[in-house]
Amino acid sequence: MKPIKVGLFGLGTVGTGVVRILERHREDLESQVGSPLLIDKILVRDTAKERSVRVAADLLTDNPRDILDDPDIDIVVEVMGGTDSARSYILEALARGKQVVTANKDLMALHGPEILAKASESGCDVLYEASVAGGIPILRTIVDGFSSDRIRRIMGIVNGTTNYILTKMSEDGASYASALREAQELGYAEADPRSDVEGMDAAYKMAILATLGFRTRVSMRDIDVQGISRVTAEDILYGKRLGYEMKLLGIAECQDGLVSVSVQPTMVKKSHPLASVKGVFNAVYVYGEAVGETMFYGPGAGELPTATSVVSDLVAVAKNLRLGVSGRKAFHPYRETRRKSDEQITSKYFLLLHVDDRAGVLANIARVFSDCDVSLESVLQQPNEHNPNAEIIIITHDASKASIRRVLDEFQKLDVVKQVRSVYRVEG
Ligand code: NAP
Ligand code: HSE
Repeated sequence: MKPIKVGLFGLGTVGTGVVRILERHREDLESQVGSPLLIDKILVRDTAKERSVRVAADLLTDNPRDILDDPDIDIVVEVMGGTDSARSYILEALARGKQVVTANKDLMALHGPEILAKASESGCDVLYEASVAGGIPILRTIVDGFSSDRIRRIMGIVNGTTNYILTKMSEDGASYASALREAQELGYAEADPRSDVEGMDAAYKMAILATLGFRTRVSMRDIDVQGISRVTAEDILYGKRLGYEMKLLGIAECQDGLVSVSVQPTMVKKSHPLASVKGVFNAVYVYGEAVGETMFYGPGAGELPTATSVVSDLVAVAKNLRLGVSGRKAFHPYRETRRKSDEQITSKYFLLLHVDDRAGVLANIARVFSDCDVSLESVLQQPNEHNPNAEIIIITHDASKASIRRVLDEFQKLDVVKQVRSVYRVEG
């Protein structure tokens, strides 16, 4: 059979994995597709750089025209990252009738509608399974597996780097900086790791999950994002003492057509399955109206796990090409997006306060909560020999985001409250 020719944009962590899987599983892949999958050209920045995988020197190029202008290249696989060049190469590839596979969540979260519209116009496929949760086939599961249900809630540990850092801090007492360095060395982190630790990478993934899951367009401006760079060892320790693990959690909810999506460090009850997701592993918890609770778990980053998803997209696209049905199964959000207000977003909260250690202080604090209509589940005073103030940890019952904000505003006016050290959402 005539080979299907592939142009690869990028030969870094993921691109290397793609080359390895195409080599190692060549026969299986050929049997599934019905034609060999052949890498014809690989775009890199530096063709002279030493590579950890062997590729013929004439495959490498630093000129994107070698791929875009070659009419024999049927499919492009974009694993170079970034949004500027990647966007223009993909749009041009689609305009020229090439099928596209990408692992680029930034690109799909920011420019997904434009890219998918161009794909529809050109009758081409664009698949992006690896963009969310690396090796977990979660996008297909949400689009196809849940097509018969209505998804109400998606909660995800969707960033391997931050989960690796929080696990190392919680279990080994590692510092934030050393855990981040290790994650970078292992190839999990983005080129600019601020995207990981400040929660943007997770937010891109939650935008994609919520768009597909709720069949409505969720863009980055719909998402409240907070990263882990201000989480302290003390927060993690106090959380553990009370039976919680700290996780960077993406939470997307859809109720009566109203959507809320956020990413924030969250105290997850140890009995919840998301609390036991450690290291670079990811998990996506999906609650469907009919099916109830489900959870999908696996490696969220790294060379081979991510490449597994990329190559499975490549197989799907290649099969469609052979069957002549490219571009027929495009996903289009069909519901109007309406956001929940802060009065409608509710959860439990964990607060760590430093307060004056004298009579009547707790009563003052309790009055603020009561005036703001927030009910308390537990209150704990922690002795701390290094702190002359009393440390109070409060877990609330379900409260709206707006009422917690009112509580924090009131604390600013109360001189017995020296510092609101931390505020976290609580789940499970
Ligand atoms: P990476 O290791 O930094 O590799 C990027 C590759 O693209 C390199 O080969 C680089 O060339 C090439 N490249 C970058 N910009 C280029 C440009 N403007 N022109 C030509 N070549 C360019 O990145 P990665 O970790 O493999 O990630 C790739 C994509 O997959 C990103 O979108 C990322 O978010 C996504 N992703 C990564 C993971 C993961 O575990 N790493 C998991 C899921 C998704 P040189 O080699 O010459 O520098
Ligand atoms: N930097 C990302 C992570 C790579 O740590 O999860 C996978 O998307």
